[in-house]
Amino acid sequence: MKHDKIQKSITAYLCRYMSHAPARLDFMQSLTGFILALFIVAHLLFEASIIISKDAMLAVTKLFEGYYFFGEAYPSIISFLAAFIFIIFILHALTAVRKLPSSYRQYHLFKKHSLQFQHNDTTLWFYQVITGFMMFFLAPIHLYMMMTQPANIGPYASADRIYSDWMWPLYLLLLISVVIHAGIGLYRLAMKWGLLTRHHNHKQTKKNRYLIKKIMIIGIVVYLCIGLLSLATYMMIGYDHQDKAGERYHPVETLK
Ligand code: HEM
Repeated sequence: MKHDKIQKSITAYLCRYMSHAPARLDFMQSLTGFILALFIVAHLLFEASIIISKDAMLAVTKLFEGYYFFGEAYPSIISFLAAFIFIIFILHALTAVRKLPSSYRQYHLFKKHSLQFQHNDTTLWFYQVITGFMMFFLAPIHLYMMMTQPANIGPYASADRIYSDWMWPLYLLLLISVVIHAGIGLYRLAMKWGLLTRHHNHKQTKKNRYLIKKIMIIGIVVYLCIGLLSLATYMMIGYDHQDKAGERYHPVETLK
């Protein structure tokens, strides 16, 4: 009798838990995506310090190594940061993968529907699937490198990796995929959680949706330009430095 009761309450708990699971996973996907998008927005700006000068990029590197707080550089801080981002990345991928069409039949149906409706946001979702798939392979390579070689970051170290070690094709593809993915992702988050679209006035909602889409497109274009300019700058530094690849940059002034 008692056994029956326990079994019933476990079943009831599991049913309740399972019925909440999709909502929990959905929230987890949104939260991890939001953290990653904010990270990328900051990452591409910090990394663009190379456009200003080699000394500016060195200062940013030293900042992340804790030089200005501890008086000494600790590259292991970058390893921890990369490990944290890696975990968020894995959680995001795991919660996102369940939304993919899992068979050719499903994919075919999806394609037919999106063509029939000509629904723009469905097309955006398709771009996210493609760019997400690209990042699934590209991002872990970069993250693993940052985790295991955190001391190998700097104006010459990074430029040599990009030019002499042939990392530029990977960064180019990663840049395009991450900027498009994050841009569309933020737009979809704004739609999903009702930001600026909570009005009962249909006209106003439509206007807001159009505005957010415009911001998304401008954001994607601006970030692609910044990223491409950074990459080109690293390439030029790497090209000039190819005979001395591996040698570290020494600043003109006080930084060691
Ligand atoms: C804490 C983790 C990370 C660190 C410390 C880091 C650091 C760096 C550094 C130092 C560079 C300059 C090139 C080099 O030295 O190799 C770089 C480039 C780049 N990173 Fe990261 N990164 C991290 C995570 C990510 C993630 C998660 C993504 C995207 C999914 C990403 C995308 C890129 C891209 C696209 C470039 C090339 C940018 C350009 O063309 O301007 N990074 N990263």
